Amino acid sequence: MAVIGIESSAHTFGVGIIENGKVLANVKSMYKIGNKGMIPIEVSEHHIQNAGSTIKLALETARIKARDLEGVGYTKGPGLGPCLQVGQLSAKTLAHRLKIPIVPVNHGVAHVEITKHTQKMKDPLALYVSGGNSQILVLDENTRKYKIMGETFDMGIGNAIDNLARSLGLEHAWGSDVERLAKEGSYIEMPYTVKGMDFSFTGLLTNAVKKLETEKKEDVCYSFQETAFSMLCEATERGLLLSNKNELCACGGVAQNTKLAKMLEEVASENGARFARAPNEFNADNGAMIALVAENNIKNKKYEKLENCDIKQKYRIDEVVVYE
Ligand code: FE2
Repeated sequence: MAVIGIESSAHTFGVGIIENGKVLANVKSMYKIGNKGMIPIEVSEHHIQNAGSTIKLALETARIKARDLEGVGYTKGPGLGPCLQVGQLSAKTLAHRLKIPIVPVNHGVAHVEITKHTQKMKDPLALYVSGGNSQILVLDENTRKYKIMGETFDMGIGNAIDNLARSLGLEHAWGSDVERLAKEGSYIEMPYTVKGMDFSFTGLLTNAVKKLETEKKEDVCYSFQETAFSMLCEATERGLLLSNKNELCACGGVAQNTKLAKMLEEVASENGARFARAPNEFNADNGAMIALVAENNIKNKKYEKLENCDIKQKYRIDEVVVYE
């Protein structure tokens, strides 16, 4: 069964094609953020301009015709409304024209599922770290929904890193710039906030941005990463102990950070668990993860009527039943 997945929740318009769990295509067009952050209407304009060509490129890459598609998935949320709408409309158009089933997909579920799928994990504790989200998740066997064991009180770790990157005054500001500068830095004290299984990043970010006025930027980046990642690792370690899982995965955009991965690997090995993260193309926003969830749902005959295919900007992961 060839299923196409469309991701458009933020700066990426991604299109993936999956056939029986095998990724045939995973292509994307990305809005260039620059130093001013994301203006939703400008990003959605980018998606509108690039939707058709990206879908065409995915079909060419997978070497299949549109008429061979047997299902379509799209990101229902969470994400930016105007951006989500472009993916929703593209998917509904395909479903209507090709008369194929359509599945609205939760973005966070897709990140965890593609990680489990590519890393051959059965039932991991998942640390989901992206721009808008930072959550520690376990799948509830009875409800088949993800339970949020811990999460950020305020902003996602990715947003905090991007904010710091913009404060560095670089022309294009990415989390990878913070990671690069951090390699040259040494530690200065910053506020550390973990409460039980939850954590907070706004105080740390404000402190780090203020320190840029007096301290070396390498030291600020190093100390920010060290503090934020230690907070995530502390809560994750507690999650491993409480849930008794023997697998730990990281997923979402910030899972691409090698320092965080190294720290999580240590947490896992000290607790007798296997750590894994997916290749970067699946941690960055992508269409293949949406196609994977859509294919699993369609195999279980769980799809939506076209007229019920909506978007939900604040779509929580714990609302969603997960199929395999
Ligand atoms: Fe994401």
